[in-house]
Amino acid sequence: MTDSAPATYAPSAEFIANAHADAATYEKMYAASIEDPAGFWAEHGKRIDWIKPFTQVKNTSFEFGNVNIRWFEDGTLNVAANCIDRHLATRGDQTAIIWEPDSPEEEAKHITYKQLHTSVCRMANILEELGVRKGDRVVIYLPMIPEAAYAMLACARIGAIHSIVFAGFSPDALAARINGCDAKLIITADEAPRGGRKTPLKSNADAALLHCKDTVKCLVVKRTGGQTTWIDGRDFDYNEMALEASDVCAPAEMNAEDPLFILYTSGSTGQPKGVVHTSGGYLVYAAMTHQYTFDYHDGDIYWCTADVGWVTGHSYIVYGPLANGATTLMFEGVPTYPDAGRFWAVCEKHKVNQFYTAPTAIRALMGQGTEFVEKYDLSSLKLLGTVGEPINPEAWNWYNDVVGKGRCPIVDTWWQTETGGHMLTPLPGAHATKPGSAQKPFFGVHPVVLDAQTGEEIHATEAEGVLCLKDSWPGQMRTVWGDHERFEKTYFSDYKGYYFAGDGCRRDADGDYWITGRVDDVINVSGHRMGTAEVESALVAHPKVAEAAVVGYPHDVKGQGIYCYVTLMNGVEPSEELRKELRTWVRTEIGPIASPDLIQWAPGLPKTRSGKIMRRILRKIAEDDFGSLGDTSTLAEPAVVDDLIANRMNKA
Ligand code: WTA
Repeated sequence: MTDSAPATYAPSAEFIANAHADAATYEKMYAASIEDPAGFWAEHGKRIDWIKPFTQVKNTSFEFGNVNIRWFEDGTLNVAANCIDRHLATRGDQTAIIWEPDSPEEEAKHITYKQLHTSVCRMANILEELGVRKGDRVVIYLPMIPEAAYAMLACARIGAIHSIVFAGFSPDALAARINGCDAKLIITADEAPRGGRKTPLKSNADAALLHCKDTVKCLVVKRTGGQTTWIDGRDFDYNEMALEASDVCAPAEMNAEDPLFILYTSGSTGQPKGVVHTSGGYLVYAAMTHQYTFDYHDGDIYWCTADVGWVTGHSYIVYGPLANGATTLMFEGVPTYPDAGRFWAVCEKHKVNQFYTAPTAIRALMGQGTEFVEKYDLSSLKLLGTVGEPINPEAWNWYNDVVGKGRCPIVDTWWQTETGGHMLTPLPGAHATKPGSAQKPFFGVHPVVLDAQTGEEIHATEAEGVLCLKDSWPGQMRTVWGDHERFEKTYFSDYKGYYFAGDGCRRDADGDYWITGRVDDVINVSGHRMGTAEVESALVAHPKVAEAAVVGYPHDVKGQGIYCYVTLMNGVEPSEELRKELRTWVRTEIGPIASPDLIQWAPGLPKTRSGKIMRRILRKIAEDDFGSLGDTSTLAEPAVVDDLIANRMNKA
């Protein structure tokens, strides 16, 4: 980045005129949301239907040892009724979900709100028949098929708590999550088609269930018909049961603070933690951000390319859009199948108006040439969005010029599994965008930049440090499932009185925020969060591995790649085969997304005299930037560093 002011791109006068918020509206609403959060959210809390309206709005504390987050706490509602039933009278025949299958040869589905209602009620009755009750946990391990949305909403309808496990996770990772939340039921499918290949989901579930209580039941959706083994009494056929199930199911009355879902996510230490989101505040926040950030208007066709296995799929494929009565597109496939034009083919086919994807996808497609985009009529597009990682200006410009033809505002949305919804983003009718900047806080969001060392707030407009939030917002996670202490320790102990996001950031002279990446041991691989500790513990579980240290390094397409330093057991010879074996091993322990990119054999790891691995040094070597290793005099054995440098894997 240079010191000169970056280019900015103002929305057109026409866009501004139609937008939910122009600059003045944003300023006014933002100021109100910070000056009087309770007043602001009392008003906007009414955007959803309450069974019993709330009288209390905000009851929150970030005080370490006493962290408590409650919104609308005496209100009751049902999330599924908000996403479906309340739209039936006015838009029952409108398409709620457009489903685009992996193969363009297979027919797309258009599911109306009425049909969604029927399917969700049936699924809810099936869950009840299988013994699922209010408060019980249900793990969902499904491809991107409409049944994934039915399953989420069916849980919400009866008050069960869902926990979705991304279909790319291995049986071991799946078992850990089933056991972690003590799920009663897992919902899966025979196979998951993706990019022309099939993942054997049911076999994975079978393998996982070997490590779970034998009371856990398994509901199986037929997707391909490729059937595997069947255990009577444990496995249940969804398609068969749906034929019999009643399509009447009254929505349960839930408290605003009853959990809606648990979603496991990686942190800098230990195993993934179960992020808990509750019902009222989460839905208000997901719906409001969906409307304002994407400037969604009635009748628009909106597409978020994420998977429901990640938080983006929760908030911006299912809950936010459906709460707003939107038409949301759900895509089963990948951007490069059958070729690198698939995203644009789908945009043309379904006349998509808002398109939301990850920088890694843009970088991958950018490399394939513009002809894949230019073949298609993209005139329906009004707005583009990105999420998951910082977007490099080159990718931003390509997105803007080649995809958006310079007409579509780009919203770069910074947020996290923990935040439930967008935290920093330009509002498309209010802000001139800047390539690479997530820019402005959403309503009710109070970002601060702290000096990383002292923890002091930096008040000057131009600032660089760690990003924290000063006060709560309705979409905030409430706790870590079963471990409130871990919740407090992870997010509220480093900087007392603040929520610490784990990201570094810079605030420029205009007060715009630029995310500089994680400041902890979490890496971001293709927009997926990965704890280096998880990959390390998978590696050391291998019998030939004595020790391992994992860091991220810059990767052209993935953003960050996974760089592993591995010390082998005495007597084990390094070889290419062993590299392959370790890669496969990590894929089976965690899943393909954790597959190591580079494995360096390390006779020793740089440690302090007290035995702590000096990751700073390992990061520098992985970045091929060892000229600035800093002080290495405190190392127990400085010579190991020379060996690591000489044999580094990422030589320019
Ligand atoms: C990163 C995904 C820069 C960040 C919604 C954050 C981003 C982590 C952006 C959360 C962005 C997400 N610019 N970095 N627009 N969006 N991140 O929980 O490091 O999977 O802490 O949530 O992704 O990842 P998570």
